[in-house]
Amino acid sequence: MTEATSYTRRSGALLRTVLNDLKRDEASAARELGVERDLIDSVLRGSRVLPYDLVERAAQVWPINERDLLAVHDDAPTGVRIMSAQESLVSTRVLRRGGVDYYEYRDTAMSRVSALRPEWIRMLQAVDDDDPNNPAVRWNNGHLLFQFTFFLEDTNYYYQWQGRRMCRRMSRGDSVVGLPYAPHSFASRNPDRPGLILALTYAGSIGSEAQRELGALGPELAGSFAPQDGQSASGFSSLLKMHMNNACTTLAQLSQSTGVSSRRLTDLAHGRDRPYDQERQRIARALGVAERDLLSRSTDTEDGVRFVTSQQGPVCSYPAGSHTAYRVRQLARSCVTPFARGLELRVPLTGTAPALSCGLHEYGYNHGSAPFVLGWNDDGQEREACIEPGDSFYIKPFVSHAFTRSPDSHEAAQVLLLRVGGHVTGDAALEAAILGRAALRRAAEDAERWYHE
Ligand SMILES: [Fe+2]
Repeated sequence: MTEATSYTRRSGALLRTVLNDLKRDEASAARELGVERDLIDSVLRGSRVLPYDLVERAAQVWPINERDLLAVHDDAPTGVRIMSAQESLVSTRVLRRGGVDYYEYRDTAMSRVSALRPEWIRMLQAVDDDDPNNPAVRWNNGHLLFQFTFFLEDTNYYYQWQGRRMCRRMSRGDSVVGLPYAPHSFASRNPDRPGLILALTYAGSIGSEAQRELGALGPELAGSFAPQDGQSASGFSSLLKMHMNNACTTLAQLSQSTGVSSRRLTDLAHGRDRPYDQERQRIARALGVAERDLLSRSTDTEDGVRFVTSQQGPVCSYPAGSHTAYRVRQLARSCVTPFARGLELRVPLTGTAPALSCGLHEYGYNHGSAPFVLGWNDDGQEREACIEPGDSFYIKPFVSHAFTRSPDSHEAAQVLLLRVGGHVTGDAALEAAILGRAALRRAAEDAERWYHE
């Protein structure tokens, strides 16, 4: 099936989803959109895409948004999308900051299927100190995307947190992850050897879908999702009060259904004490939520960042027990984004490399000096491509793939990986597991009416 055919079918499935959700059949849909029934039938069959003027009309007559009817473009139909170093070079553009050429950007592999935005960036300005207030350092205002940065050359990294500016000297192989909206910058330390990084930005849970919802709610209501300044951000008391408020449950009622005294519940609700495990279990059961919904969460970032130097990071052979295992080094990470994993893999020099697969979108970049072979399984068909130094690639979740030494090379190849969760991560993945495989397969391409006449 070509991507055009696949896109048309997926567009038809989206129209069916809208009609099913709004409880419309084909005849009522055609009448309300003011078109012939044949057109609706052909879209639902996947023979043609709904014309855009009808998408706009649908968004006027029904309580939906245009994008509810617009399918995602799949630009990685084999499961993998590769960008060569030469293609990256063609995308070169220089951006100025404060009137001077500051950064040279190049795109690396991206896909419309994932919100990963990986850029190769060279620093065009050099400094001769580590002063974060050096006027030669041009700061940005921060951005909504999380940023994982891998340092390809020695570079000064600048970051700001709660009004305080800091600088850290980074070297090749170091990495850092930074929180959204924290201003940051980079500069070269040596004009003869410019700083060079891979800036891999990706949407967290608040990006993409959630951001659209926040936009529609407006700034005032959007801000209410976080507690007032000075209150615990995600402690048990906040979670307990939120779920009680959602369910219009009183402390007296909760006390009755849990057997926990009102006085004790009052202390817990005011954050004066933390619950014992058994109390949390009983409260969760009484509120009809999962226990994990009442587990508080804290950040492990310091000043909005977490660093791992090239000498740090747990290293192991993976998979365990394999004589052709990869050597894997864990790069910078934070529990704030548990589904983002930066890894550095050394490709085994001999033997058949073991296959890897996970539920995250995977970005890779050959940052070593040796090529390697990327092999992957495309729905039963084995494919492979040579990844030269500077080449990059994107791999869809659950696509089985392996990195093998190139027959032309006797050097150990190195690959940088950043794996990032998509929309089926965290709570959505737990829900998916409960719905089961049959339901998920149906959700991926369901074009049937929800009932038979
Ligand atoms: Fe950035």
